[in-house]
Amino acid sequence: MADLYSKAQEAVDAVLTRVSLPPRVGIILGSGLGGFASQVADAVTIPYAEIPHFPQSTVAGHSGQLVLGTIGGIAVAVMQGRVHAYEGYSMEQVTFPMRVLGLLGVRTLIVTNAAGGVRADIPQGSLVVISDHINLTGRNAAAGPNDERFACVPGAGQRFFDMSTAYSPQLRKLAMAEAERQSIPLSEGVYLAVLGPSFETPAEIRAFRTLGADLVGMSTVHEVIVARHMGIEVLGLSLVTNMAAGVTGETIHHEDVMEIGRRVERQFTGLLTALVPQLVAPEL
Ligand code: HPA
Repeated sequence: MADLYSKAQEAVDAVLTRVSLPPRVGIILGSGLGGFASQVADAVTIPYAEIPHFPQSTVAGHSGQLVLGTIGGIAVAVMQGRVHAYEGYSMEQVTFPMRVLGLLGVRTLIVTNAAGGVRADIPQGSLVVISDHINLTGRNAAAGPNDERFACVPGAGQRFFDMSTAYSPQLRKLAMAEAERQSIPLSEGVYLAVLGPSFETPAEIRAFRTLGADLVGMSTVHEVIVARHMGIEVLGLSLVTNMAAGVTGETIHHEDVMEIGRRVERQFTGLLTALVPQLVAPEL
């Protein structure tokens, strides 16, 4: 059976037959945020079903296509939709697209998600820069045989790798500065990941708050772990689509996730479109 690297390379080859410019920035769009893909100029859209070994999403709000083109003159690959461990996918499947983005040439990742707000002072509809994460999914996507061929920069691809600056302090600073320029309220917070698909209980949310969580969600951390394994710089952005269980006493519905996404679309798009060209170091 083909190993993970060979499978990823097969997917890369398939994508490269459709585009001429290898992407430098990867963007993963979370639930309700898929509309951002319309910002891509000269877009080439490839359904996941047409990319070898790509997993197919089963969740409403995740359309499942890779959009390649440019934003502000920078070559990007935008994932409109992702798959989650709660759908029954293995860690390898959940992070397969991330491996492919890295091998395509992505060196900076913007990962976005819908999240529950654990802190009452970060209200529904807020955009939050992820400062760090707590992985309580019980899984780690880098487990399994280590393959150093996934290194995208010298020194990456090691068995053990540092996560102390998983969410690049430099990229976080750029995001905060751009939000201020555009008068978009933006806070920073710690994202805690659970497996899902059940939303949390109020007791779990109280426990997570004690642990230092500001946001709770069911994605992102696996992609970030794999991105860091490859040496890719990460900017994480959460949209607070609902207050987490017990914070306001209201029931949580997946439909809220989509609705809030539409409401903040303009801010989200304005912020990301301006940020993309700033995230890439000029070619020397
Ligand atoms: N919990 C977990 N994941 C989520 C939530 C939540 O409240 N909202 C959006 N994704």
